[in-house]
Amino acid sequence: MKGLLLAGGHGTRLRPLTFTGNKHMIPIANQPILFYGLKHLAQAGIQEVGIVLGPLHEGIREAIGTGLAFGLRVTYIHQGDPKGLAHAVLCAREFLGNDPFVMYLGDNLLQEGVTEFVRIFERESPDAVVGVTPVEVPQQYGIVELDGDKIRSIEEKPAKPRSNLALIGVYLFTPAIYPIISALTPSGRGELEITEAIWRLHQAGGRIVPYAVRGWWKDTGRPEDLLHANTLVLRSLPPASFDQLGEVSAGAKLRGGVRIGAGTVVDDGVEIEGPVVIGSGARLRAGTRVGPETSVGDGVVLDSVSVRRSIILEGARIEGPLRVVDSLIGRNVAITSRTPLASELTLILGDAAQIRL
Ligand code: G1P
Repeated sequence: MKGLLLAGGHGTRLRPLTFTGNKHMIPIANQPILFYGLKHLAQAGIQEVGIVLGPLHEGIREAIGTGLAFGLRVTYIHQGDPKGLAHAVLCAREFLGNDPFVMYLGDNLLQEGVTEFVRIFERESPDAVVGVTPVEVPQQYGIVELDGDKIRSIEEKPAKPRSNLALIGVYLFTPAIYPIISALTPSGRGELEITEAIWRLHQAGGRIVPYAVRGWWKDTGRPEDLLHANTLVLRSLPPASFDQLGEVSAGAKLRGGVRIGAGTVVDDGVEIEGPVVIGSGARLRAGTRVGPETSVGDGVVLDSVSVRRSIILEGARIEGPLRVVDSLIGRNVAITSRTPLASELTLILGDAAQIRL
């Protein structure tokens, strides 16, 4: 079994969330989104992973290297033009050989990982396993209509959805998928659609097992999705992940799970309410209140700031008095405020933005 991780935009609809670097590398609980996919593949017992790099691949190879840190052997595959998810599979054809493979869309986050997909495949030897979950806006996803456990239809982003059961971006295929993908023609949005390939596989008599994932799933296409994913991941971190390596003054108040990285200094008069993760080399000065559900990157400086349900990327500097909520603050952003504001602010700021209030 091999793994195929898609990273860097594979379709024509390159989501515009690139203002703070490559969206696959945006940190959730201080770890790039893509790392979660790699960990899940390793946990499922997969050792060889192909990372298909689309046009937005900046920083990925540098951060992951050979994959050794994840217990994986990683091969990089360039997609060239982003002609869709099925096209990405064709680009990886040589790497995949005749092995079955788990394909994982790198901007998706899945609470339970992919181990169950592999178990189902080992137990039932189907031609494909596809993860599904109910969604609120089925028009935005590949939609599967079931009759009991039988598939009745599969459609990509249907205008009139026949169900609310979405394909979640984790699929397990065998080589039976290749001739089907090779026969595809571009869809209305100009892509070779993996959803169409799955439908044709079904019509050709292939056995597809829809697997209703347990736990949460998040497609992190928009800032609010990233923030929600951050909250979900922080809430599900095990107690052991909240170690405190930094320097916490006796007059600081910490409650709940709080991780503090090496070299971070927390001054007297700071309050932190977990779950919160703070990177290394950060400085939290008096009058600062962090959390719950907040990730603070390496080297961030917070002074007289209250921040909750937010992600602050490395090197940002916020000097209050200021209250911030539901915010995504890019790398090396500088915010200074002189007078207290009546209300909390929600800020979605790209790297290196500067604000004086
Ligand atoms: C892609 C797939 C879609 C699936 C979704 C999951 O959509 O085409 O079937 O439901 O990922 O995130 P896209 O990212 O191209 O909009």
